[in-house]
Amino acid sequence: MKVIGTGLTGLIGTRFAELLGDSYELEFINQENGVNILDREAILNFISVSKAPLVLHMAAKTNVDVCEQDMYRDKEILSLKNEKEMERAFIEEKTAYGINAFGTQNVVEACKKTNKKIVYISTDFVFDGTKKHYSEDDKPNPINWYAKTKYEGEKIVQNSGLEYMIVRLAYPYRALFERNDFVRAIADKLSKGFKLNMVTDHIMVPTFIDDFVNALDILIQKGEKGIFHVVGSQALTPYDAAIKIAEEFDLEKELISKTTRKEYFAGKAPRPFCLNLKNAKIGNLGIEMSTFDQGLREVVNQIERMHI
Ligand SMILES: NC(=O)c1ccc[n+]([C@@H]2O[C@H](COP(=O)([O-])OP(=O)(O)OC[C@H]3O[C@@H](n4cnc5c(N)ncnc54)[C@H](OP(=O)(O)O)[C@@H]3O)[C@@H](O)[C@H]2O)c1
Repeated sequence: MKVIGTGLTGLIGTRFAELLGDSYELEFINQENGVNILDREAILNFISVSKAPLVLHMAAKTNVDVCEQDMYRDKEILSLKNEKEMERAFIEEKTAYGINAFGTQNVVEACKKTNKKIVYISTDFVFDGTKKHYSEDDKPNPINWYAKTKYEGEKIVQNSGLEYMIVRLAYPYRALFERNDFVRAIADKLSKGFKLNMVTDHIMVPTFIDDFVNALDILIQKGEKGIFHVVGSQALTPYDAAIKIAEEFDLEKELISKTTRKEYFAGKAPRPFCLNLKNAKIGNLGIEMSTFDQGLREVVNQIERMHI
């Protein structure tokens, strides 16, 4: 099956391409290939010419604090009356709203021309973190700019009239990528002897990217539609996660001390508190996701195998 993919050069997308590059005929949309999702005409030309029936849309601006700094400028750009000027500003400035919402609008418009299905990758951050658990039926209420722009993307996809899937994940990690994910960032710092203050009043469900890719493959193959949560099956605090990382990587856990969200994120973008997303829908399809312990073990195994 031919699949057009945006974001295939990123943390999650590269793993999708590594694990499933033989199962799908992937057509890459990325800036190095000269296709910028902010450029309406370029994206329209690329997508409408392709015979692929499905677009996997993963491209995003993902750094939460960098996105927060874009908010003011984004609002200025959105107030521009002239559409061409707006497009030019988004292309030049690559702001959060530009990439996550305007770019998604461009992808959707191009999909509409040739009636392609769209699979949009989204985030646990669309929720405000005030509920104990979140299912796919819960209404998002994003509290920072990154999350607001991603939720905009979700709404654009949902209101497009296209066949769609929205797949939300949380705190992704894997064995190897050029940029450290949170697991390897913690392991890296501990291995250099740095002390770490880790938050005890935030709940997350870290997602092993290999599981995510496998689940996504099954959902695509089954032709599923609608919203799906695809996250790790163990909820824990960043402090507990750091202790487990130290144990699994055989590093000094005495370097890790406790802090609160309020202290840790002072001066940064607001963060939701309890992000315990539930995987009930994929569970009903028989798809299983690793616990954090299982995912970490597999990450360490894969790293060890690479060094043999
Ligand atoms: N990372 C997380 O913690 C996290 C958590 C939950 C959900 N997610 C979601 O998962 C998805 C993938 O995230 P990730 O962490 O793998 O992303 P990432 O590593 O930050 O990579 C971003 C991707 O977006 C592409 N991109 C950015 N601007 C573009 C543009 N103007 N035109 C075309 N492509 C562009 C980049 O391609 P270039 O090579 O062209 O730069 C790159 O492939 C995103 O939708 C994100 O919101 C991520």
